[in-house]
Amino acid sequence: VIYANNAGTSWPKPATVAEAVSAALTRPPQELGETYESAHAVACRFLGIEAPERLLLTSGCTSALALAVGDLPWREGDVVVTSAVEHHALARPIEKLVRERGVVHQTAPYRPGHPMDLDFVRDTLRGGRVRLVATTAASNVTGELLPVAELIELVHERDALYLLDAAQTVGVLPLDLRELNADILAFAGHKGPLGPHGVGGFWAAPSVSFESPWATCEIGSGAARAACSTFPGFCDVGSVNLAGVAGLAAGFQWLETNASDRPRRLARRLAAAIGQREGCTLLGGDARCERTATIGLTIPSLGMGHTEEFFSERGIVVRVGQHCAPTALEALGEPAGALRISFGHFNDERDVDAVIDVIDEAIKQG
Ligand SMILES: Cc1ncc(COP(=O)(O)O)c(C=O)c1O
Repeated sequence: VIYANNAGTSWPKPATVAEAVSAALTRPPQELGETYESAHAVACRFLGIEAPERLLLTSGCTSALALAVGDLPWREGDVVVTSAVEHHALARPIEKLVRERGVVHQTAPYRPGHPMDLDFVRDTLRGGRVRLVATTAASNVTGELLPVAELIELVHERDALYLLDAAQTVGVLPLDLRELNADILAFAGHKGPLGPHGVGGFWAAPSVSFESPWATCEIGSGAARAACSTFPGFCDVGSVNLAGVAGLAAGFQWLETNASDRPRRLARRLAAAIGQREGCTLLGGDARCERTATIGLTIPSLGMGHTEEFFSERGIVVRVGQHCAPTALEALGEPAGALRISFGHFNDERDVDAVIDVIDEAIKQG
């Protein structure tokens, strides 16, 4: 089987990830504090985090975003700007702010190859009251990269914060938080980092203050609050998914020695092949557009309902649907859904050839 749904979850995992999970489950409880501390330190090293108390490990990117977005000190009338291609994990906590806290949500227009209109962001920032610009690092449907460096520069010209949902890029593209200059970053452990499900987290710069309307997270809120401990985190998260955190660290360690640009190269090759064919459409910018290792496409002759099955009958695992990003599908003019093919470190050129053969067969059938 050729697995090509790494944007959904990475597979296979390196053998060392399963070994680390198993070792964490067999170590006696009195040693688990040390297991956590060393795994947390690996995550900090991988992400370029200098102050470990600013990295909170959670049950995934969704819970990390809910905490980070929900616990900022919102005032009625504050504005949040996002792109049109956000995943539910970011869009939903923002919808909740709009419903419950009088926050105003502005969405920057999307154009293929230009997933976030910088002029719109600049103008909205000028209008004042923007508290947060929050975006994904890349569309999880088309793989298109958002202009993160430019956004951070614009946001910091004003008194606003930038939150990066890096679920689609951590472990796929190099990242160093000492250089990025973002304010908050959330990530998913089971995707690019090659960790197990149920682990992820967020980091917040020391300058970011949170409040805890639901008493779930109390970071960086001044001397009145108890000093943060690095275990189990800097807020009371209850029992921690230690085996998951150990597996996450093993994934990061595997990447430290083995990561390469190959998954993205494979995606570029597939994008070029799709761009040359009639009968299928590459979604987003053209094949030269900067992407992760993810390609979104449609093959009208197949019909959305049969596409996943067609590929799976030929031994290829892909994802078809709305990918938890319905506004992205609307912006792309494909509200019914799209086919997504995404490569990982265990794919190779032959996998791309096999995918292209199946696309050709599907087109011929039509
Ligand atoms: C852009 C984006 N953000 C957030 C998430 C949610 O991540 P998790 O599965 O760790 O909750 C995903 C998962 O598909 C994603 O693609």
